[in-house]
Amino acid sequence: MEENLKTAIVTGGARRIGAAICRRLHEKNINLLIHYNSSKKEVLALQSELCANRKNSVQIFAADLTKINGCLKLIAFCIKYFGRLDILINNASTYYPTEIGKITTEHWEDLLGINLKAPLFLSQAAAPFLKKTKGSIINITDANIDNPKKGYSVYSIAKAGLINLTKSLSQDLAPEIRVNSIAPGPIIWPDSKQPFDENYKQIVIKQTLLKRTGEPNDIAQAVEFILAANYITGHNLKVDGGRSIST
Ligand SMILES: NC(=O)c1ccc[n+]([C@@H]2O[C@H](COP(=O)([O-])OP(=O)(O)OC[C@H]3O[C@@H](n4cnc5c(N)ncnc54)[C@H](OP(=O)(O)O)[C@@H]3O)[C@@H](O)[C@H]2O)c1
Repeated sequence: MEENLKTAIVTGGARRIGAAICRRLHEKNINLLIHYNSSKKEVLALQSELCANRKNSVQIFAADLTKINGCLKLIAFCIKYFGRLDILINNASTYYPTEIGKITTEHWEDLLGINLKAPLFLSQAAAPFLKKTKGSIINITDANIDNPKKGYSVYSIAKAGLINLTKSLSQDLAPEIRVNSIAPGPIIWPDSKQPFDENYKQIVIKQTLLKRTGEPNDIAQAVEFILAANYITGHNLKVDGGRSIST
Protein backbone atom coordinates (compact mmCIF):
# COMPACT_ATOMS: atom_id res chain seq x y z
CA MET A 1 0.00 0.00 0.00
CA GLU A 2 1.23 3.52 -0.85
CA GLU A 3 1.05 5.29 2.50
CA ASN A 4 1.20 8.90 1.34
CA LEU A 5 -2.06 8.64 -0.63
CA LYS A 6 -5.29 10.16 0.63
CA THR A 7 -7.81 7.79 2.26
CA ALA A 8 -11.60 7.92 1.97
CA ILE A 9 -14.41 6.10 3.77
CA VAL A 10 -17.58 5.57 1.73
CA THR A 11 -20.52 4.23 3.76
CA GLY A 12 -22.87 1.87 1.93
CA GLY A 13 -20.25 1.70 -0.82
CA ALA A 14 -20.83 -1.84 -2.12
CA ARG A 15 -23.56 -1.10 -4.67
CA ARG A 16 -25.42 1.50 -6.70
CA ILE A 17 -24.44 5.16 -6.06
CA GLY A 18 -21.93 4.29 -3.32
CA ALA A 19 -20.03 1.96 -5.67
CA ALA A 20 -19.88 4.66 -8.37
CA ILE A 21 -18.39 7.06 -5.80
CA CYS A 22 -15.84 4.40 -4.78
CA ARG A 23 -14.77 3.79 -8.40
CA ARG A 24 -14.36 7.53 -9.05
CA LEU A 25 -12.31 8.15 -5.88
CA HIS A 26 -10.12 5.13 -6.61
CA GLU A 27 -9.46 6.42 -10.15
CA LYS A 28 -8.21 9.61 -8.49
CA ASN A 29 -5.55 7.58 -6.69
CA ILE A 30 -7.28 7.62 -3.32
CA ASN A 31 -7.15 4.61 -0.97
CA LEU A 32 -10.56 3.37 0.10
CA LEU A 33 -12.24 1.88 3.11
CA ILE A 34 -15.55 0.65 1.71
CA HIS A 35 -18.17 0.19 4.36
CA TYR A 36 -21.03 -2.27 3.81
CA ASN A 37 -23.78 -3.79 5.90
CA SER A 38 -25.25 -6.84 4.14
CA SER A 39 -23.80 -6.71 0.58
CA LYS A 40 -20.75 -8.89 1.23
CA LYS A 41 -20.65 -10.51 -2.22
CA GLU A 42 -20.85 -7.14 -3.98
CA VAL A 43 -18.24 -5.48 -1.77
CA LEU A 44 -15.76 -8.34 -2.26
CA ALA A 45 -16.22 -8.11 -6.04
CA LEU A 46 -15.68 -4.34 -5.96
CA GLN A 47 -12.60 -4.70 -3.77
CA SER A 48 -10.99 -7.21 -6.12
CA GLU A 49 -11.92 -5.13 -9.20
CA LEU A 50 -10.22 -2.04 -7.72
CA CYS A 51 -7.24 -3.85 -6.17
CA ALA A 52 -6.49 -5.42 -9.56
CA ASN A 53 -5.45 -1.89 -10.63
CA ARG A 54 -3.73 -0.90 -7.37
CA LYS A 55 -2.72 -3.60 -4.89
CA ASN A 56 -3.88 -3.27 -1.25
CA SER A 57 -5.58 0.06 -1.98
CA VAL A 58 -9.03 -1.02 -0.77
CA GLN A 59 -10.18 -2.41 2.55
CA ILE A 60 -13.73 -3.34 3.47
CA PHE A 61 -15.57 -3.14 6.79
CA ALA A 62 -19.02 -4.43 7.80
CA ALA A 63 -21.12 -2.53 10.32
CA ASP A 64 -24.69 -1.68 11.16
CA LEU A 65 -24.31 2.09 11.38
CA THR A 66 -27.57 2.62 13.27
CA LYS A 67 -25.45 1.44 16.24
CA ILE A 68 -22.98 4.01 17.58
CA ASN A 69 -20.47 1.25 18.23
CA GLY A 70 -20.50 0.37 14.52
CA CYS A 71 -19.69 4.01 13.66
CA LEU A 72 -16.80 4.17 16.15
CA LYS A 73 -15.33 0.84 15.02
CA LEU A 74 -15.42 1.91 11.35
CA ILE A 75 -13.36 5.06 11.99
CA ALA A 76 -10.97 3.20 14.33
CA PHE A 77 -10.40 0.49 11.70
CA CYS A 78 -9.56 3.11 9.07
CA ILE A 79 -6.92 4.72 11.27
CA LYS A 80 -5.51 1.35 12.30
CA TYR A 81 -5.21 0.10 8.72
CA PHE A 82 -4.44 3.24 6.68
CA GLY A 83 -3.08 5.52 9.44
CA ARG A 84 -5.03 8.52 8.15
CA LEU A 85 -8.42 9.78 6.99
CA ASP A 86 -8.97 12.54 4.42
CA ILE A 87 -12.53 12.08 3.14
CA LEU A 88 -15.74 10.81 4.74
CA ILE A 89 -18.71 10.18 2.44
CA ASN A 90 -21.93 9.54 4.38
CA ASN A 91 -23.90 7.71 1.69
CA ALA A 92 -25.59 4.75 3.46
CA SER A 93 -29.35 5.07 3.64
CA THR A 94 -32.71 3.38 3.91
CA TYR A 95 -35.75 4.65 2.05
CA TYR A 96 -39.34 3.46 2.38
CA PRO A 97 -42.80 4.88 3.10
CA THR A 98 -44.10 5.29 6.64
CA GLU A 99 -47.84 5.74 6.74
CA ILE A 100 -49.16 8.03 9.45
CA GLY A 101 -51.01 5.87 11.98
CA LYS A 102 -48.63 2.97 11.41
CA ILE A 103 -45.25 4.54 12.22
CA THR A 104 -43.27 2.56 14.79
CA THR A 105 -40.17 3.35 16.83
CA GLU A 106 -38.36 0.75 14.68
CA HIS A 107 -39.08 2.89 11.57
CA TRP A 108 -37.85 5.97 13.43
CA GLU A 109 -34.71 4.31 14.72
CA ASP A 110 -33.85 2.78 11.35
CA LEU A 111 -34.56 5.80 9.09
CA LEU A 112 -33.21 8.44 11.49
CA GLY A 113 -30.46 6.08 12.61
CA ILE A 114 -28.86 5.54 9.22
CA ASN A 115 -29.76 8.82 7.47
CA LEU A 116 -29.01 11.26 10.30
CA LYS A 117 -27.56 9.76 13.50
CA ALA A 118 -24.81 7.78 11.76
CA PRO A 119 -23.49 10.79 9.77
CA LEU A 120 -23.30 12.82 13.02
CA PHE A 121 -21.47 10.16 15.05
CA LEU A 122 -19.19 9.16 12.16
CA SER A 123 -18.29 12.82 11.61
CA GLN A 124 -17.66 13.36 15.31
CA ALA A 125 -15.37 10.33 15.53
CA ALA A 126 -13.62 11.25 12.27
CA ALA A 127 -13.12 14.94 13.08
CA PRO A 128 -9.75 14.71 14.93
CA PHE A 129 -8.25 12.74 12.02
CA LEU A 130 -9.83 14.93 9.31
CA LYS A 131 -8.45 18.00 11.09
CA LYS A 132 -4.94 16.65 10.72
CA THR A 133 -5.36 16.15 6.94
CA LYS A 134 -7.53 19.28 6.34
CA GLY A 135 -10.12 16.85 5.08
CA SER A 136 -13.66 16.87 3.80
CA ILE A 137 -17.04 15.41 4.75
CA ILE A 138 -19.76 14.93 2.14
CA ASN A 139 -23.26 13.93 3.21
CA ILE A 140 -25.57 12.46 0.57
CA THR A 141 -29.00 14.03 1.11
CA ASP A 142 -32.00 14.25 -1.25
CA ALA A 143 -33.05 17.00 -3.67
CA ASN A 144 -36.75 16.52 -3.02
CA ILE A 145 -36.68 17.37 0.65
CA ASP A 146 -38.14 20.93 0.43
CA ASN A 147 -41.14 19.29 -1.17
CA PRO A 148 -41.41 16.00 0.76
CA LYS A 149 -43.06 13.01 -0.91
CA LYS A 150 -46.44 12.10 0.56
CA GLY A 151 -46.22 9.12 2.88
CA TYR A 152 -42.46 9.43 3.52
CA SER A 153 -42.43 11.68 6.61
CA VAL A 154 -39.77 9.83 8.62
CA TYR A 155 -37.29 9.57 5.72
CA SER A 156 -37.95 13.23 4.83
CA ILE A 157 -37.33 14.41 8.40
CA ALA A 158 -34.06 12.49 8.46
CA LYS A 159 -32.74 13.89 5.17
CA ALA A 160 -33.89 17.43 6.06
CA GLY A 161 -31.97 17.02 9.32
CA LEU A 162 -28.92 15.87 7.37
CA ILE A 163 -28.93 19.10 5.32
CA ASN A 164 -29.05 21.06 8.57
CA LEU A 165 -26.35 18.86 10.11
CA THR A 166 -24.14 19.67 7.10
CA LYS A 167 -24.46 23.40 7.82
CA SER A 168 -23.92 22.92 11.57
CA LEU A 169 -20.83 20.77 11.07
CA SER A 170 -19.41 23.18 8.50
CA GLN A 171 -19.49 25.81 11.27
CA ASP A 172 -18.24 23.58 14.06
CA LEU A 173 -15.41 21.93 12.11
CA ALA A 174 -14.13 25.01 10.26
CA PRO A 175 -11.58 26.14 9.31
CA GLU A 176 -9.78 22.81 8.98
CA ILE A 177 -12.58 20.59 7.65
CA ARG A 178 -14.98 21.38 4.81
CA VAL A 179 -18.47 19.89 5.14
CA ASN A 180 -20.89 19.81 2.20
CA SER A 181 -23.82 17.77 0.98
CA ILE A 182 -24.92 16.47 -2.39
CA ALA A 183 -28.65 16.10 -3.00
CA PRO A 184 -29.50 13.56 -5.70
CA GLY A 185 -32.75 13.70 -7.65
CA PRO A 186 -34.01 10.58 -9.45
CA ILE A 187 -30.83 8.60 -10.12
CA ILE A 188 -31.66 4.89 -9.69
CA TRP A 189 -35.07 3.62 -8.70
CA PRO A 190 -35.16 1.83 -5.36
CA ASP A 191 -34.83 -1.94 -5.69
CA SER A 192 -36.93 -4.33 -3.59
CA LYS A 193 -39.71 -3.20 -1.30
CA GLN A 194 -40.65 0.23 -2.69
CA PRO A 195 -43.88 0.45 -4.67
CA PHE A 196 -42.66 2.53 -7.65
CA ASP A 197 -44.80 1.70 -10.66
CA GLU A 198 -43.99 2.63 -14.28
CA ASN A 199 -46.58 5.39 -14.22
CA TYR A 200 -44.97 7.07 -11.19
CA LYS A 201 -41.51 6.79 -12.76
CA GLN A 202 -42.75 8.53 -15.94
CA ILE A 203 -44.30 11.33 -13.83
CA VAL A 204 -41.00 11.87 -12.02
CA ILE A 205 -39.01 11.90 -15.28
CA LYS A 206 -41.47 14.46 -16.74
CA GLN A 207 -40.91 16.67 -13.68
CA THR A 208 -37.18 16.94 -14.42
CA LEU A 209 -36.13 19.75 -16.77
CA LEU A 210 -33.72 17.35 -18.52
CA LYS A 211 -36.49 14.74 -19.10
CA ARG A 212 -34.45 11.79 -17.89
CA THR A 213 -33.10 10.17 -14.76
CA GLY A 214 -29.48 10.73 -13.78
CA GLU A 215 -26.84 8.04 -13.32
CA PRO A 216 -24.73 7.04 -10.31
CA ASN A 217 -21.79 8.60 -12.12
CA ASP A 218 -23.48 12.02 -11.95
CA ILE A 219 -23.24 11.80 -8.16
CA ALA A 220 -19.65 10.54 -8.32
CA GLN A 221 -18.80 13.51 -10.54
CA ALA A 222 -20.37 15.90 -8.01
CA VAL A 223 -18.27 14.28 -5.25
CA GLU A 224 -15.14 14.84 -7.31
CA PHE A 225 -16.14 18.47 -7.89
CA ILE A 226 -16.80 19.20 -4.20
CA LEU A 227 -13.51 17.59 -3.19
CA ALA A 228 -11.63 19.81 -5.63
CA ALA A 229 -13.58 22.98 -4.78
CA ASN A 230 -11.47 24.20 -1.88
CA TYR A 231 -13.48 27.35 -1.09
CA ILE A 232 -16.87 25.62 -0.79
CA THR A 233 -18.20 24.60 2.62
CA GLY A 234 -21.69 24.35 4.14
CA HIS A 235 -23.21 23.92 0.68
CA ASN A 236 -25.96 21.55 -0.51
CA LEU A 237 -25.43 20.76 -4.20
CA LYS A 238 -28.55 19.51 -5.99
CA VAL A 239 -27.91 17.01 -8.79
CA ASP A 240 -31.48 16.45 -9.92
CA GLY A 241 -31.88 17.40 -13.59
CA GLY A 242 -33.71 20.52 -12.43
CA ARG A 243 -36.64 18.59 -10.94
CA SER A 244 -36.76 20.69 -7.77
CA ILE A 245 -37.26 23.96 -9.69
CA SER A 246 -39.60 22.72 -12.41
CA THR A 247 -43.01 24.44 -12.41
N1 LIG B 1 -31.20 6.33 -5.69
C1 LIG B 1 -31.61 7.57 -5.91
O1 LIG B 1 -32.10 7.90 -7.01
C2 LIG B 1 -31.50 8.59 -4.80
C3 LIG B 1 -32.35 9.71 -4.80
C4 LIG B 1 -32.23 10.64 -3.76
C5 LIG B 1 -31.28 10.46 -2.77
N2 LIG B 1 -30.46 9.38 -2.80
C6 LIG B 1 -29.46 9.20 -1.74
O2 LIG B 1 -28.23 8.82 -2.33
C7 LIG B 1 -27.55 7.85 -1.49
C8 LIG B 1 -27.27 6.57 -2.29
O3 LIG B 1 -28.49 6.12 -2.86
P1 LIG B 1 -28.72 4.57 -3.19
O4 LIG B 1 -30.08 4.48 -3.78
O5 LIG B 1 -27.55 4.05 -3.93
O6 LIG B 1 -28.71 3.99 -1.69
P2 LIG B 1 -29.31 2.60 -1.17
O7 LIG B 1 -29.06 1.57 -2.20
O8 LIG B 1 -30.74 2.80 -0.74
O9 LIG B 1 -28.46 2.37 0.17
C9 LIG B 1 -27.05 2.40 0.19
C10 LIG B 1 -26.52 1.41 1.19
O10 LIG B 1 -26.86 1.79 2.52
C11 LIG B 1 -26.51 0.66 3.32
N3 LIG B 1 -27.28 0.61 4.57
C12 LIG B 1 -28.62 0.54 4.74
N4 LIG B 1 -28.91 0.39 6.05
C13 LIG B 1 -27.74 0.35 6.74
C14 LIG B 1 -27.37 0.19 8.10
N5 LIG B 1 -28.28 0.04 9.08
N6 LIG B 1 -26.05 0.20 8.42
C15 LIG B 1 -25.12 0.34 7.46
N7 LIG B 1 -25.39 0.50 6.15
C16 LIG B 1 -26.69 0.48 5.79
C17 LIG B 1 -26.78 -0.58 2.46
O11 LIG B 1 -25.61 -1.40 2.50
P3 LIG B 1 -25.65 -3.00 2.22
O12 LIG B 1 -26.18 -3.14 0.81
O13 LIG B 1 -24.23 -3.41 2.37
O14 LIG B 1 -26.57 -3.60 3.24
C18 LIG B 1 -27.09 0.00 1.08
O15 LIG B 1 -26.48 -0.71 0.01
C19 LIG B 1 -28.46 7.62 -0.30
O16 LIG B 1 -28.06 8.44 0.77
C20 LIG B 1 -29.84 8.06 -0.81
O17 LIG B 1 -30.71 8.49 0.21
C21 LIG B 1 -30.56 8.42 -3.78
